[in-house]
Amino acid sequence: MNRPPDISLTDQVAVITGGGGGIGRAIALAYASVGADIVIADIVPERCEETAARVRELGRRALGIPTDVTDTEQLRAAIAKAGEHFGRLDILVNNAGGVSPKPFLQQSERSWRRLIDLNLVSMLTATSAAVPLMIAGGRGGSIVNVASIEGSRAAPNFAVYAACKAGMLNFTRSMALEFADHGIRVNAIAPDYTVTPGVRGNIGGPVNPESWRRPTAAQQEATARRIPLGRPGIDTECGNIAVFLSSKMSDYVSGTVIRVDGGTYASSGWIRNRAGAWTLTGDI
Ligand SMILES: NC(=O)c1ccc[n+]([C@@H]2O[C@H](COP(=O)([O-])OP(=O)(O)OC[C@H]3O[C@@H](n4cnc5c(N)ncnc54)[C@H](O)[C@@H]3O)[C@@H](O)[C@H]2O)c1
Repeated sequence: MNRPPDISLTDQVAVITGGGGGIGRAIALAYASVGADIVIADIVPERCEETAARVRELGRRALGIPTDVTDTEQLRAAIAKAGEHFGRLDILVNNAGGVSPKPFLQQSERSWRRLIDLNLVSMLTATSAAVPLMIAGGRGGSIVNVASIEGSRAAPNFAVYAACKAGMLNFTRSMALEFADHGIRVNAIAPDYTVTPGVRGNIGGPVNPESWRRPTAAQQEATARRIPLGRPGIDTECGNIAVFLSSKMSDYVSGTVIRVDGGTYASSGWIRNRAGAWTLTGDI
């Protein structure tokens, strides 16, 4: 059957964890620009309000709910409030997450449990709270899990985070099967290095690009040699893919991952040498 491509999310309601900054904020604004109403569940209240204001400027309704996703009760309450406020829920984006590098043996149990709560348990909690609302709405739904390239490769000094992201990818596949009969599709995106407040050292407080750490020229060159497309990702590039995954454009796509990584996963050890030629040995 011929049907023109339809990217719109008109009158759908989306909850985005960590939607106040970086990739989550870009997804929120991308969804709003194609017609969705947005709930931002971010730990920083000013970030919730700032993204909500931008969504309203785009002509959509928005609700910011300051939420720590590592607090199960808070996260459940935020999703319930989203459903009550808008009367339905169609899209969940499990985006809140993050990590600071540390060798595994130098990490305390408390530290790795905190990482698991943030990067893995929050997805389980949000999914279990959101899916009954999607089912009740009777229109199917879409879940987008923001994983990472680290979920598919070794990640020294990021081992617990990477284990969580690998778990996210597999949970995505299992849920795609469990929710298929309800028309709820479950997919993941796996970014590589993407410029966001988090990677620039602006972890808490309002987003303030003035305060961001700038990469040195040597770091920029190293990034360009390592990532096939020759540059870091831009948060809106994840926003575009999330819109695709939640729209009718991807009606027949579930249980998969789209790598928003400039080709890094494919490169699997190949890097450019200083002359720009692909090599497995760097400058040797
Ligand atoms: N930026 C990258 O290079 C990159 C690469 C791969 C994967 N990712 C993944 O993308 C997601 C977003 O990363 P980002 O770079 O945009 O991060 P970021 O730090 O720039 O933004 C994360 C947002 O989540 C919020 N947040 C943090 N802890 C929270 C909590 N406990 N509860 C609720 N909100 C919380 C922050 O306030 C912030 O607004 C993460 O899951 C991350 O693992 C990022």
